[in-house]
Amino acid sequence: MLWTNDLSVGVPEIDEQHKGLFACLARVEKAIDEKQRGSSVFFALDQLADYARIHFAVEEIEMRIHRYPDFDAHVEQHRTFESRVKQFSEEALHRNVFEDVRDFLNNWLVEHIQIADKAYAPYLVAGNTGAGAGGNT
Ligand SMILES: [Fe+2]
Ligand SMILES: [Fe+2]
Repeated sequence: MLWTNDLSVGVPEIDEQHKGLFACLARVEKAIDEKQRGSSVFFALDQLADYARIHFAVEEIEMRIHRYPDFDAHVEQHRTFESRVKQFSEEALHRNVFEDVRDFLNNWLVEHIQIADKAYAPYLVAGNTGAGAGGNT
C-alpha cells in the first residue's frame, strides 16, 4: 500500500508525514509477508508507533491552534490506533502476527486520512483560528 494523490489533504507538511507513515507500514508488511521472526515485526511496529506519535502530535497541535471543533473525536481515533499498534507489537513477540494486523493498519490509515484528516485540513489551509468554518466553498 502506497500513498497516492487522492490521499492528499492539501497541506504539504501533513502529506509528507502521511507518506512516511505508509513507508513504516510497508516495512511492517514486509516483515509479516516474509514471515520474519517476531522481533522483526515487533521492531517494524515499534518504528511505526514512534513515527505515528510524532505525526499525531503535529496534527493535534495544529488542530488546537486552529480551534478545530471535532478535536476530541479526532484525538480519540489517534489514541485507539496507538493502543492497537502497541497491542500488536506485544503479540508479535509471542506468536505470528496475522493478515488481519496488516489489514487493520492499512484500512485504519486510509480511512482516517480520507475522513478524519481531510475534515480538519481545510482549517489549516484557511488559516482559520476559530471564527467559523474554514471549509471549501
Ligand atoms: Fe489524524
Ligand atoms: Fe494524519
